[in-house]
This record gives sequence, structure tokens and C-alpha cells, in this order.
Amino acid sequence: MVSDLSKKHFLTCEDWTKVELDTVFETSFKLKNQFLNEEPHLYLPHKTLFMIFFEQSTRTRNSMEAGMTQLGGHAHDLTADKMQLSHGESAKDTAIILSRMGHGIASRNCFYGIGNDYLNEMAKYSTRPVMSLQDDIYHPFQGLADLMTIFEHFDKNPKGLKVTISWAYADTHSKPLSVPQSQILLFPRYGIDVTVAHPKEFPLSKNIVDKAKLNAAAGGGSIKFTNNMDEAFEGANIVIPKNWGGFGAYSVPEYLDNETECKKEMKENLDKYKSWICDEHKIKLADKNVKLMHALPADRGHEVTDEILDNENISIVFDEAENRLHTAKAIMSLTM
Ligand code: CP
Repeated sequence: MVSDLSKKHFLTCEDWTKVELDTVFETSFKLKNQFLNEEPHLYLPHKTLFMIFFEQSTRTRNSMEAGMTQLGGHAHDLTADKMQLSHGESAKDTAIILSRMGHGIASRNCFYGIGNDYLNEMAKYSTRPVMSLQDDIYHPFQGLADLMTIFEHFDKNPKGLKVTISWAYADTHSKPLSVPQSQILLFPRYGIDVTVAHPKEFPLSKNIVDKAKLNAAAGGGSIKFTNNMDEAFEGANIVIPKNWGGFGAYSVPEYLDNETECKKEMKENLDKYKSWICDEHKIKLADKNVKLMHALPADRGHEVTDEILDNENISIVFDEAENRLHTAKAIMSLTM
């Protein structure tokens, strides 16, 4: 257990040691018990968190805001259009000012090639902890909630657990790479054997894949890749079918300079893979006690069928969503 994590930024789990992450999980479980038993846990009385969302959110926004209230503080729910950011005020000036007025800054900025740089710029100038609510590369709060859910449903030492992270078809929007990338980096650090399946046109970012392999070697887990969804489901203890866009295939300058062409190509590629859905056939290939996880929102009927998502013997997606609250509170109470 680490005693002092105050003011530590939380932009990616990669910046946190395993001992520090273990402290976060221990705190998350304690806070969950306190919440369920309705015991007061006002660890951040009168403190202020500034949240700046550049995109929509249900779980992240509400886990942070409800979490701050339950810890005795308050979260400002800000969007760029409410702030001078919309007139071009810099990340640097915004971070300096907000960190003089409150106790923490959190932001979601998923614009490809921009979001992670934006959050790092804020962290450079903020004297208070800066937390990522998701960017174009990482979604660290989601990674924490996912692993907490795995600990609850399997074992706090999940070594040897087979987790399949599969690309799946969706037509709602081009989802960021950040959820699968955070999962492949984090899970092997805890000894988990990860299989990633995706059509060849929808890879994850090469530098993240390379880092995940190093994490697996150091953590005792493993990571392998396939372009076959059925093969990836065989014998899996957990399946995570989730769409991600084709951003990994494009270098940043190409994407930014030729956005229309890249989006057209992504759509054409997407339409080839409508059969990439988690349905009864796929679930039958997995372990007989397989569990379904998904960061949500799910594209029902495309990424996963209603029959599987609503099956209480299989689906643990709502536990996973609830754990966003407890892990968010852990990070806030430890760092703010
Ligand atoms: N999983 C997740 O980040 O959900 P929201 O986009 O609703 O915050």
C-alpha cells in the first residue's frame, strides 16, 4: 500500500507502478463497501474538481460527478462551449487558472492526434492532479473498472485467465482506440493471457502493441493477435467485443490532412465486417462459464446481440459500469 499519491496525475495506468495500482484497487474495494453499506466517506470535503468534456459521456461524467459529491466535494461539469477554450484559450492557461481555483482537473478529449497531447499539456502546467477521462490513446479509468470487475468475478490473482478483446461491427460512430489499448497494456501486467482479434484494416496502434508485449513479458501474462473472431473466442473466460475505428492504420499527419478520404475508406472497410458480432454461436465457442464485458455504450444488435448482453449468467457489463464509480472515487481521493 502506497501512502502518498497526492497530486499524482492520472493520464494512463502506464505511469503508475503495480504497487500504486494495487493501492488504487484496495481503495476502490473499500469505497465500494462503504457506498453499499451507506457509510459516510467524506474524504474530499469542500474540494472542487473541474471536468472539461470535449465529447459526450454517460458513465464517465456521472461516476466522477456523483463520486465527488459522495466524497464531500463538488465537480464542475464543463464543456468547451461554456469556456473560453471555444475562443482559443490555451490548455496551458486553462490549467494554470483552474489549478489555482480548485483541487483537480479532469478532461475528455478524444480528437485523434490531439487528445493525449492536450491532456499532457494541462498536466505540465497544472499544480493539481490532472485526470484523463479518455483521450485518443488511453482510457485509464475504464481500464481500472475493468480489472476491478475481473477481480470480483474471477480472482484477485487472475494469472492465466484467458481474455479475448475482439473488434466488433458498429455503425453508431467511429469509436476511439483508447479502451482496447488501455486493456491490452494493463491486463498482462496482472498475468492475464490476452487475445486480440481484429480485421486487418482495424489494427491497434503499433507502439501500444509493442508496449503491451513488453508489459506481458514483465507481468507474466501474454498477448497474441488474430484476424479471426471465432478462433479468438475459443476457450475464452472473458470476451470483450467492441468496435474501434480505423485510426490505428493511419499516421496522424495523413489522417489530419486527409480526413474526408480516410473516413470514407474507414466506412467502406467497416461494411465488410458486419459478421463480427458477439452472438450465441460465438459464445458457444468460449469457456462454458464465459463472461461478457463491454465498456458501454454497446451497439446492440451489431457489436453484441440483446440475447447475450441481457443474459445475467453471461453479462457482467453493469457491474463493470458500476465499478467506474468506485475506481473514480479511489483515484480522486488518493490524488486530490
Ligand atoms: N465507458 C465510457 O467511457 O462510457 P461514457 O462514454 O458514457 O463515459
